[in-house]
Parts: sequence; C-alpha cells; structure tokens
Amino acid sequence: MQGHYMLIFERNSELKIHLDRIRAESRQIGFVPTMGALHAGHISLINESKKRGLFTVCSIFVNPTQFNDKKDLENYPRTPQADIDMLRQSGCDALFMPTTEEVYPKEDVRIFNFGELETVLEGAHRPGHFNGVAKVVSILFDKVHPDVAFFGSKDYQQVMIVKALVKQLNLPIQIVPCPIIREPDGLAMSSRNMRLTKEEREAAKLIPLLLNESKIFFKAQKPISEIKAFIASKLAQKSIYKLEYFEICNSESLQILTDKKEVKQGIALIACFVGNIRLIDNLILD
Ligand code: PAF
Repeated sequence: MQGHYMLIFERNSELKIHLDRIRAESRQIGFVPTMGALHAGHISLINESKKRGLFTVCSIFVNPTQFNDKKDLENYPRTPQADIDMLRQSGCDALFMPTTEEVYPKEDVRIFNFGELETVLEGAHRPGHFNGVAKVVSILFDKVHPDVAFFGSKDYQQVMIVKALVKQLNLPIQIVPCPIIREPDGLAMSSRNMRLTKEEREAAKLIPLLLNESKIFFKAQKPISEIKAFIASKLAQKSIYKLEYFEICNSESLQILTDKKEVKQGIALIACFVGNIRLIDNLILD
C-alpha cells in the first residue's frame, strides 16, 4: 500500500525519543486519540491537524476502563491493518498502538470529579465511562505531550469532559472539537456502524432525521416536552429501536432544558439502540 511514511510505535519509550526529537526541531504536535476501526470522521481529525502544519500523532487503543459493559468491549470492532492503511493515506506522521500493559502498567485508581457534567446523558447511562475516558486521555496526553488535540463532536459530552480535564490538570493543550461527519443519508459516522446488520443500518437513518425534526420544532417554539414525546413515540413504533435518552440541553453546560427561553443555544442529544448496537448523535438547534 502506497502512502505517506508513517512511524508506528508500540512502546512509550520509543515514542518519547522520537517526539523529543520533533520538539527539538521546534515543531508542534497535533494528537488524534482513537479506539481504531477508523472511518472518515477520524480522518477528518487527522486532516485538521495536518492543515495546521502540526506533526500529527494518532493513537489506537481500545481502552478497557471506559467500557461499563464487558460484552461491548469484547465486541468493539478492531481493524488494525485497514486503520494503518487509512492513516498512511491520510498523511498521519506517527501512530501509537500501545498494549494494555503499556498504558496501565498498574491499576489506575484515580477518581475524577466533573460535577454536574458527568451526571447527565452518557454520564447517567454509562456509569464510570467518563472516569475511564479521563484516565486514558490523561495518560495518553502525558505520553504524547501534544500542543493541540482533536476530538469529534459526535461525542459532544466527551469533548466537554476533556476540556474540563485539561483545565483541572492545568495542561497546556488546546482542545479542538471537529464537526460530525455523516454518511450520505445523514447517519453520523461511528466505528459501531460497521456492526449494524443491513436492516439495522437502514433503520439507523431515522436517528438524524428525528434530530432534524426536533430542530424544526424547537425553532418553531414547540414546547420541549412535546418535542420529546414526539421523538419517543416515533421510536416506539418499531421494536428495532430502544431509546435510551433524547434530551434538549444548554449547549454550553449540557444542563437539561425544559423551556427554550432558558437558553442562548440549545442542542439535542440522543442515545438509541438499533438492534443490539447503541448509537449516539447530536445536533445544535440554535
Ligand atoms: O472517542 C474515543 O474514541 C475514545 O473515547 C477516546 C477519546 C479515544 C478515549 O479512549
């Protein structure tokens, strides 16, 4: 496979030697942490880093501490060779693919506190998830020491957690949220999409459609309780869907809203099972 020359590291020590050299040349480092099974959404983050002229490091590590469901961890898609090929093609400069022992040489027992932010949405439905994200992101930041790190906005709440983490730990890292990349029918790109059956994939396109409808209703001043009831009733029509939550929140705090007047900018966020696959998505409502 032709493509850009990309270094691949499995060990922290080797990564560090190389990145020290890059910093000695006064180059800045852009970082894209991932769990692999890469798609165009991830590549858009690499592109954003490259566009800024940064030495671009991607990591692939399926982080066990952020999975509250063991089956979900076991079933998480892993496509390392295709990932490497995609990253080479994208112009990524270095890939860090550590083992679990390399990331967690001993158990990480830290407990983070993100206040209200971790009590809603994903925080409420996936206990311990954000604590695991905070653990791994802080460890990876410590290994890579990026100047800038890029995250996809599909995980909107995660971006806010990472921003809070950087603030709490006083890290000199700029966090750049990047737009959600969608399939032609609107479905937000996700590594989990590759696990959908044909029927589930077809059904999944309703999720972005409902987000768009909620935006139209929100703009038309429809009461939030009615918008929520509408979304729930649409998804209740077919047993393939199981709605976990649909909320309209303040886009700055993620505080759940009951009235449009409470806020400058609203955001609709959804988590819904399609068959056995849990999908999340969101849309700024204005
Ligand atoms: O968004 C992800 O893929 C993961 O949560 C992250 C940020 C790579 C941490 O494991």
